[in-house]
Amino acid sequence: MQGSWDNPIIAGSDMQLEIPVAKPVPYIDFDGRRRLFHLRGQASSYLMSVSPYGDLHQLHWGCKLEAPDVAAVHRAWAGTVRNLHLETHRREYASFGSNDLRLPALHLEHGDGSRLSAFDYQGHEVLPGKPALVNDGLPGTTAEHPEDASTLRLLFKDYHSGHLLDLYYTIYPKLDVVVRRALLKQGPQAGAVKRLMSASLDFPAGDWHALSLPGDWARERMIEQSRLNQGAHRLESRRGTSSHGMSPFAVITKGKADEDRGEAFGISLIYSGNWLIEAEKHMSGRLRVNAGLNDFDFQWRLEPGATFASPECALAYSSKGLGGLSRKLHAMVRRHILRGPWRERERPILVNSWEAHYFKFKHDDIVKLAGQAKDIGADMVVLDDGWFGSRDSDNSSLGDWYDDLSKLPKGVKGLAAEVKAMGLKFGLWFEPEAVSPNSELYRKHPDWALAVPGRRPSTSRNQYVLDLGRPEVRDFLFSRLAHYVEDAGLDYIKWDMNRPLWEVGSPSLPAERQAELSHRYVLGLYELMGRLRDRFPELLVEGCSGGGGRFDWGMLCYHPQFWTSDNTDGLDRIYIQYGSSLFLPALTQTAHISEVPNHQTHRNIPITFRSLVALSGNLGLEINLAKTRAGEKREIKGWMEYYRKVRHLVNQGDFHRMESPYEGPRAAWCFVSRDKREVLAFAFQPRTPFRGQEPLPVRFKGLDPDEIYKLEGATQSYSGAFLMTQGLIPAFGPGDFQAQHWRLAAR
Ligand code: GLA
Repeated sequence: MQGSWDNPIIAGSDMQLEIPVAKPVPYIDFDGRRRLFHLRGQASSYLMSVSPYGDLHQLHWGCKLEAPDVAAVHRAWAGTVRNLHLETHRREYASFGSNDLRLPALHLEHGDGSRLSAFDYQGHEVLPGKPALVNDGLPGTTAEHPEDASTLRLLFKDYHSGHLLDLYYTIYPKLDVVVRRALLKQGPQAGAVKRLMSASLDFPAGDWHALSLPGDWARERMIEQSRLNQGAHRLESRRGTSSHGMSPFAVITKGKADEDRGEAFGISLIYSGNWLIEAEKHMSGRLRVNAGLNDFDFQWRLEPGATFASPECALAYSSKGLGGLSRKLHAMVRRHILRGPWRERERPILVNSWEAHYFKFKHDDIVKLAGQAKDIGADMVVLDDGWFGSRDSDNSSLGDWYDDLSKLPKGVKGLAAEVKAMGLKFGLWFEPEAVSPNSELYRKHPDWALAVPGRRPSTSRNQYVLDLGRPEVRDFLFSRLAHYVEDAGLDYIKWDMNRPLWEVGSPSLPAERQAELSHRYVLGLYELMGRLRDRFPELLVEGCSGGGGRFDWGMLCYHPQFWTSDNTDGLDRIYIQYGSSLFLPALTQTAHISEVPNHQTHRNIPITFRSLVALSGNLGLEINLAKTRAGEKREIKGWMEYYRKVRHLVNQGDFHRMESPYEGPRAAWCFVSRDKREVLAFAFQPRTPFRGQEPLPVRFKGLDPDEIYKLEGATQSYSGAFLMTQGLIPAFGPGDFQAQHWRLAAR
């Protein structure tokens, strides 16, 4: 059965959609004669066609195709399609079970124990905007206005098992982003999903490279690039969270990626648990890339008629190198991932108590910190770990979300009231997902922690992880969080998560569903965070996972900002923030000025350098102001005032990476307003060059070449062309750790 503009909904799938069908739908063309789908972005095209045998083939993803190009691509493909060896084709979503032995997008186990499937095209529908799938429990991109996006839904059926498969493609044409996902509906016999990827891509033969963001605790998102040689390559997390070890993001490029030139294909998963982006360079030279839920130690049982949804995966195309790609991804996050009142609102500049006091504080210390925060011009004080149970170190009390009256005799409520009376906002740290073996909660409910019955559980940071798959666990956590939001009038929560998941098991699930638990955990987490977000839309929640261990687009659907890294050292942060900027806008990356010697690296970096690194993100402080020297405090205060004047650029401007610390001795970047009339640029030189070396200019990017820009606080002006080709020589002083900023505005 085949759909058309006049008959868009095809029988065969009764999965419910919320948005009614309306015609005509822009950005998606369907050519019924050639069974050709064309998703049209402003500068990109995504082209697919149904083969005469019902298999969907990928014809093109990349530069924009005009009508003659589409015809040419289709003609070339049509000449090959009679070849029944599927491994020779570029396929859209290959299932295991044919003469295509490349890594499949879909792998099922049927009731009879067989694992072969073959899904044939049944029809399609084209919808304005982005339909919401009912009750799938996963976060996804938004499309507030129907003109933001159009969605194509393709329907398939496995002729033998009767399973139905829907593939969704939502195109955001202005950003050249296609968001994909898959939805499976079980046929009349029960079975299991072994893998259901969100997106699958078949690139033609070429010298393909992958850029990834591996790391570790305090070393998140380090840029790495490698050639994809023949064979299979996996970027993944098996750690239960998206993880410090690797971010759920990759860029595929032809040849080594260039910052300003060449095609870049970005892949960002909207998922926060075990994920996989795999690439297989086939013996033919073609490249297949699959992205989605990790199939490692995973299986999901489906009863007849039950459905299973993959997470969403965003695919972005740019012909302007990594820089062009990042700007599209940043805009995607700002407009279609972040939501609620905090999406556009300027965030409070906070002072966090962690590095100032760790676990050792009393009511008066926090009141004193608040007084200092007020004097210096901050907006909010955040009481980090140590306020609950009897938590004097990290070996107890997680789960006991009740005031520690020995530290806070007036309770959190009394403390919050005093802080608020000073005209400040007040925030509190929680680690809802964790439980200490030494806690009242664990003594009462040992079965609430993830563990395999009969096996020794092991701790990490002296803690276990709660089974968020269980509704009663989530209800308990919600009631404790809601209590503090309401009772103490919290303005902010820092939601932390400090360990990986291992020994994942639960007595609440039957044997045949144990392999579902890692994913059920993430679904439970999303449900809990969603409940909090919906009940308290004004509450600002900052994500954290031992720093930036779960900083992904899934979490950003709930937390509009994330603690980028526990490493607050100015030098290390340059690498971390530069790497993070590949797919995360500055607005979402929190960056704190901390004291020296730095608590993680023991390095002594001057305050200007430290401050300018933090000003390049979502600024805050993590410093004992009572101990800070007066001169340094004055300087911090000055930078905070300055930040208020320029943060519209940091938050909403286009970000341009000018010099990479990974490739040279300096780092430089700039933020340019959308109308190109304002610029804020930063340059960092960690190590003084050899004597006698001629200083090199920093060349700006993203300006209007014909515009004349005036330098703030000076009489000089420069044309955009001059700034971009000749550049400015930084006025770095002598010694290591020099930093400079420039602010320019069109006259
Ligand atoms: C994690 C966080 C830190 C801090 C501590 C508290 O490590 O990343 O910022 O909140 O926990 O224990």
